[in-house]
Amino acid sequence: MAIQFNWAKPYLTGLLRRSCLLAMTKMALLAWLAQGSALAADAVPSPDRQRELARFVRQECGFCHGLRLTGGLGSPLTAETMRDRPVDLMVAIILDGIPGSAMPGWKPYLGEQDAHWIVRALQEGLLDAPK
Ligand code: HEC
Repeated sequence: MAIQFNWAKPYLTGLLRRSCLLAMTKMALLAWLAQGSALAADAVPSPDRQRELARFVRQECGFCHGLRLTGGLGSPLTAETMRDRPVDLMVAIILDGIPGSAMPGWKPYLGEQDAHWIVRALQEGLLDAPK
């Protein structure tokens, strides 16, 4: 029994190590694939991240788009104006900005999934100031 076990041990640990490595490689590959793909855009940020994003929009975006998002230096971001805007275009604007305008790109702070959530939240009026 003991002999059998000694023989099996290096084999089993090797197998374990290999499958662990395989799982890690798979996870890294999936994470890499998810980046920038439609999958990432459809995924929803965690509730904590959503609260963070809502605060971020009011503070950082409100600076130009108005504290109530009804417009200022930047155009209104209320549900009324955002509802008919193409989602992908708005996501691109948030991430890359509008060259030649005051609208900066927010890529250093926001991922594609974040930007996607913000656009949807704006369109659904989730971030509108209470009337
Ligand atoms: C420094 C000022 C400034 C800040 C801060 C800013 N924006 Fe803008 N944004 C602008 C301006 C100016 C425009 C309009 C540019 C133009 O079309 O001339 C704009 C345009 C936009 C548009 C396009 C709106 C439309 O009707 O097509 C979106 C969406 C947008 N901003 C989202 C955001 C979000 C989200 C944030 C925060 C993460 C943000 N902006 C922060 C200045 C700003």
